[in-house]
Amino acid sequence: MRKHRASNTAKMVAYQRALGNLIPAVPGFVDPVAEEFLPEKWKKRVEKVRDRIPASPFPFWFRGMGIFNQFRTVVLDKAIGSALPFQQLVILGAGLDGRAWRLPGLENTVVFEVDHPATQLLKRQQATLQSLKAKDIRFVGIDFTVDHIVAKLDESGFNRNAKTFWLWEGGTMYLKPKEVAATFSSIAELSGRHSSVAFTYMGKKAGKVPGSLFLRLIGEPIRSGFSRDELVRLALDSGWDLTEDSGIKDWIRGLSPGMDLTERKVGMQWYERIAVAVKC
Ligand SMILES: C[S@@+](CC[C@H](N)C(=O)[O-])C[C@H]1O[C@@H](n2cnc3c(N)ncnc32)[C@H](O)[C@@H]1O
Repeated sequence: MRKHRASNTAKMVAYQRALGNLIPAVPGFVDPVAEEFLPEKWKKRVEKVRDRIPASPFPFWFRGMGIFNQFRTVVLDKAIGSALPFQQLVILGAGLDGRAWRLPGLENTVVFEVDHPATQLLKRQQATLQSLKAKDIRFVGIDFTVDHIVAKLDESGFNRNAKTFWLWEGGTMYLKPKEVAATFSSIAELSGRHSSVAFTYMGKKAGKVPGSLFLRLIGEPIRSGFSRDELVRLALDSGWDLTEDSGIKDWIRGLSPGMDLTERKVGMQWYERIAVAVKC
C-alpha cells in the first residue's frame, strides 16, 4: 500500500458493507456500523444511495464484488462465533472492520486491531468508543513488511497465555509469500493453547496468482496466492494446522443455494478463499 495514505481497499470494502447493509443479499449479513467508519465523502455517497432503495444500492460493476464480500463477512463471523469464548481477538490488517462494535459475545474479549499506521489513523478518527461491544480495544500500528508484530503486541498488553482468535481478512494477498509466512510464525509464537486463526487468501487460477490492474493502479497490488497444498505446507511450517478451507461456491451452496453469482460478476475475488487453522 502507499506509505503515508490510508488503504484504499480498506475504504472500498467498508463502503461495500455499508451499501450491503441497506439491503443485505446474503442471509446473515448485517453491518450497521460499517458506515460510521467511512470518511465523510464516502458517508455522503451511502446517504445518496439510501434514497434509491429498494433498487439495488450497488452500481452494476460493483454488485458482484459487494455480494462476495457479504459472504466473506458472514463466513468469518460464523468462524468467530463458533470459537467463542476467547479472551483476545486480534484483527490483523483491521482496516475499517466494525466487529468490536458489532459482534455479540465479545463482552469478555479484548480486541487488538493491528494495522498499518496510515489506515489506523483514519479508523481512530472515525471510531467512537462508547458503543464498543468488546470489553476493550487496543490499536497497534505496524507495517507487516517492516515491523516486528511480536514486540508490538507484547508492548500493547497482549497475553500470550490467553486463548486468542486471530482474524486476517482481506490482507494476506497484499504481502509477499515470505511476509505472510513470517507473520503466521510470529502469531504462532504468541498463541496459547486452543488459539486459532481465520484468514482469507488468494487461491490460484490455472496454477497462477490472479492479477488485478485496478488494484495495481490504486497502489495495492496482489503479491501472493497459494494452492491448497502450498497453503497447508505454509501453515504447518509456521505452526498451524489447517482445519477448514472453503471458497465462494461452498458459501453459496451453504448460505444461499441457487444464487446467481459468477466469476464474471465478481472478478478476481472469485478466487479469494477462507481458511481456518488451529495452533499445532
Ligand atoms: C482490503 S483491506 C482489508 C481491511 C479489513 N480487514 C476488511 O476486511 O475490511 C487491507 C488491509 O491491510 C492493511 N495492510 C496492507 N498492507 C499492510 C502492511 N504492509 N502492513 C500493515 N497493514 C497492511 C491495510 O491497511 C488494510 O487495512
